[in-house]
Amino acid sequence: NQRRPLIAGNWKMNGLATAATSELKELVALAKDHTAPKCDILICPPATLVREMASAAENSSVQIGGQDCHANDSGAHTGDIAAEMLKDAGANYCIVGHSERRADHGESNAVVKAKAEAAHRGGLIAIVCVGETLAEREADKTLDVISDQVRNSLPNGATASNTVIAYEPVWAIGTGKTPTPLDVATVHAHIREELAALMSDSAQVRVLYGGSVKGSNAEELMAVENVDGALVGGASLKAADFWPIVATS
Ligand code: G3H
Repeated sequence: NQRRPLIAGNWKMNGLATAATSELKELVALAKDHTAPKCDILICPPATLVREMASAAENSSVQIGGQDCHANDSGAHTGDIAAEMLKDAGANYCIVGHSERRADHGESNAVVKAKAEAAHRGGLIAIVCVGETLAEREADKTLDVISDQVRNSLPNGATASNTVIAYEPVWAIGTGKTPTPLDVATVHAHIREELAALMSDSAQVRVLYGGSVKGSNAEELMAVENVDGALVGGASLKAADFWPIVATS
């Protein structure tokens, strides 16, 4: 396929300026030494570090993203962050609808969709996350849950250039457990079918896999058909752990 892989790191609620800057600089140095990386490289630090990480990544192939944005563009929303603010701080991407936000903050598909649309208005590429819980998988509802999430979280106006989908089975996040390559292939093919009905350029949309991706399993997971990269949590915090995942692409 023509899709350029995206290897994205989500630092979640981790990172203080000094150590984070040194990890980011190490990643930038690895990316510079590596002639023409065959994938896009993204780090989504906590909002407090977006500007500093963007500055540390300046003139490199490492891009910076936010982990969440508000559905509105500005206003009386204490503690929230607008997409345009992330863009202003140096971000190009924003994750929306991560399962931790869906679970911890009760974000519905409608909220996730509104946030993805806000990300677009703010000039950011939205990474829309979907994924089933263990109970849903055990009840054989995985594909139904994924259909519902894709259909109802996909922003209006989604194109392959402004939207990325990340499939993250909730039970695989931070657990060291991963689905089999066949299971990943089944869900990714299903997501592609759903997208085909919703977008005219769906064949170009990148669909990432996330959930316990690490250096030792990245090659196998990235080789699965229709997997166009990874959304990496724990293994993205250290450049030395993240780089081997980037290098598989
Ligand atoms: O956004 C990243 C995912 O939640 C995966 O996290 O790689 O620590 O399992 P993990």
